[in-house]
Amino acid sequence: MFCFLEDESDMNDPATGRAAAVEQPRPMVELRHVSKRFGGFTALADVDLQVARGEFLTLLGPSGSGKTTLLNMIAGMTPPTEGQVFIDGRDATSLPPAERDLGMVFQNYALMPHMTVFDNIAFPLKVRKVPRGEIAERVQRALDLIRLPDVGHRKPRELSGGQQQRVSLARCIVYNPALILLDEPLGALDKKLREQMQLEIKRIHSELGITMINVTHDQDEALTLSDRIVLMNRGRIEQHCAPEELYFRPRTVFAADFMGEANLLDAEVADATDTHVRLDWAHGALLAPRPTHTQERLQRGDRVVVLVRPECVSMGQGEAGDENRVAGRLRDSIVLGGVVKHYVTLPDGKELIVQQPNHVRRSAGFAGQDVHLAWQAHDALVLQAGSQPS
Ligand SMILES: Nc1ncnc2c1ncn2[C@@H]1O[C@H](COP(=O)(O)OP(=O)(O)OP(=O)(O)O)[C@@H](O)[C@H]1O
Ligand SMILES: [Mg+2]
Repeated sequence: MFCFLEDESDMNDPATGRAAAVEQPRPMVELRHVSKRFGGFTALADVDLQVARGEFLTLLGPSGSGKTTLLNMIAGMTPPTEGQVFIDGRDATSLPPAERDLGMVFQNYALMPHMTVFDNIAFPLKVRKVPRGEIAERVQRALDLIRLPDVGHRKPRELSGGQQQRVSLARCIVYNPALILLDEPLGALDKKLREQMQLEIKRIHSELGITMINVTHDQDEALTLSDRIVLMNRGRIEQHCAPEELYFRPRTVFAADFMGEANLLDAEVADATDTHVRLDWAHGALLAPRPTHTQERLQRGDRVVVLVRPECVSMGQGEAGDENRVAGRLRDSIVLGGVVKHYVTLPDGKELIVQQPNHVRRSAGFAGQDVHLAWQAHDALVLQAGSQPS
């Protein structure tokens, strides 16, 4: 998304031999050292963030972590206590929302109930004094885009929740804003409809190429839609990266625990080589790859947390050949359609989760059965202890 030139000689002006200014793509949104305090409470603490043009960015995090505050700050509805907000290269910190060239979609559709769908979508164009004929054409184009070409004459209450949410999106898209902000737009919809709408939003985003910033606390939605996820924790950015990286390479225990399900094992470093770490764990030795994200070399005796995703653990009756093994007792198995989750209790009472594909011919095991769990070294990720989930 952003291009960084590694070889400085490429940047030299051939005429002068001096470094020439390199044209960097201008971010659509940039937050510089933004903080927000409500009385004595800090809702956002020194946040720096750049959102690239055309990017689909998701703000993800637990309730109260500052997602809406951050979005409202970009929208112009909440002024920052400190710091600056740039939109398309312009300092927008003190601009009112109407002058920021952006659209917003909320969880409660916020459609005007007494107006038809057509008039709801036409409203922002009328405010902008667009000629009548052009309004009709643009509203119809927006209705086609949301795949509801024939509902213009209906009132919002004559539509389903998902259809109303699409109309709110159309009302945003119709005036071609450079940026669309979405605050939990799918939160009120049932799971199936939410999944359909996620795909619709993804399609509309790629068709129009508009920059979109979406707030959610639904990790599946974040994984489905985003080019990049910004994980928030208590008013700070915990990690921002591509969705797969957040799931497979979380930097902290908080990130590992928030994204998907996680087995988190407290361990102590016994020995570290260039490639691997041997660890002492309450249930025996563990082997994991040496972490690449921390510059500091791990020392014998360092306390760490080892992440193993449930789908990386195998369960059987006999001992497996993988590098990491532990015996336990099956407490319960839950069938979730295509997958089965097993809860296995270890001798000290700690519970590990194992997730396997569901298969009619596979016996799920029975509660109380002794089982052996195993996982490969490369499926374990060593994290620094200390960044505990809040
Ligand atoms: N106007 C306000 N006055 C005082 N405190 C506020 C105000 N707005 C937000 N807060 C506090 O700031 C923190 C962050 O709120 P915010 O609405 O940004 O959270 P969120 O991540 O969007 O949460 P949720 O997922 O529940 O919507 C919360 O602790 C909230 O109580
Ligand atoms: Mg919120």
